[in-house]
Amino acid sequence: MGHDVSGVAAAFDARAGTYARSDWHVRYAERLVELAAPSPGMHVLDAATGTGFAALAAARAVGPTGRVVGVDVAAGMLDHARRAAVAAGLGSLELVRTDATDPAGSAASSRSPPCGRAIPHPRGCSGSTPRVTG
Ligand SMILES: C[S@@+](CC[C@H](N)C(=O)[O-])C[C@H]1O[C@@H](n2cnc3c(N)ncnc32)[C@H](O)[C@@H]1O
Repeated sequence: MGHDVSGVAAAFDARAGTYARSDWHVRYAERLVELAAPSPGMHVLDAATGTGFAALAAARAVGPTGRVVGVDVAAGMLDHARRAAVAAGLGSLELVRTDATDPAGSAASSRSPPCGRAIPHPRGCSGSTPRVTG
């Protein structure tokens, strides 16, 4: 069981709109993915994905044969990520609302624990369009 992240989620929900317009954060996240250099077909988990800047860049890098899961506790941040993913047509990106520190992965999403979807088994991930669970 993870710790109480409701305060963190509320704080980031409140600033989600500002965050999503931050050029600095986009550049930072894209540089991070550039350094990590994920290849086509790879599976990537972006913990605390926020508005999805790094997850979007990773999804572009891994392409349609890869898979990226972004997890975050703040539904408002994830909503921006989801809209950006839909606009970019990045069907390899899945967005899940959950606590990344919760080993059970069920703090905020009993339907979609991130470890079951993100990491080991691509066929365990459903759907081809970006979505937010939880
Ligand atoms: C400063 S933002 C960074 C977002 C993104 N990684 C980026 O580089 O743009 C921090 C994010 O971490 C999320 N967060 C904090 N604690 C978390 C946790 N335990 N599990 C999942 N997300 C968490 C917040 O909701 C927030 O969206």
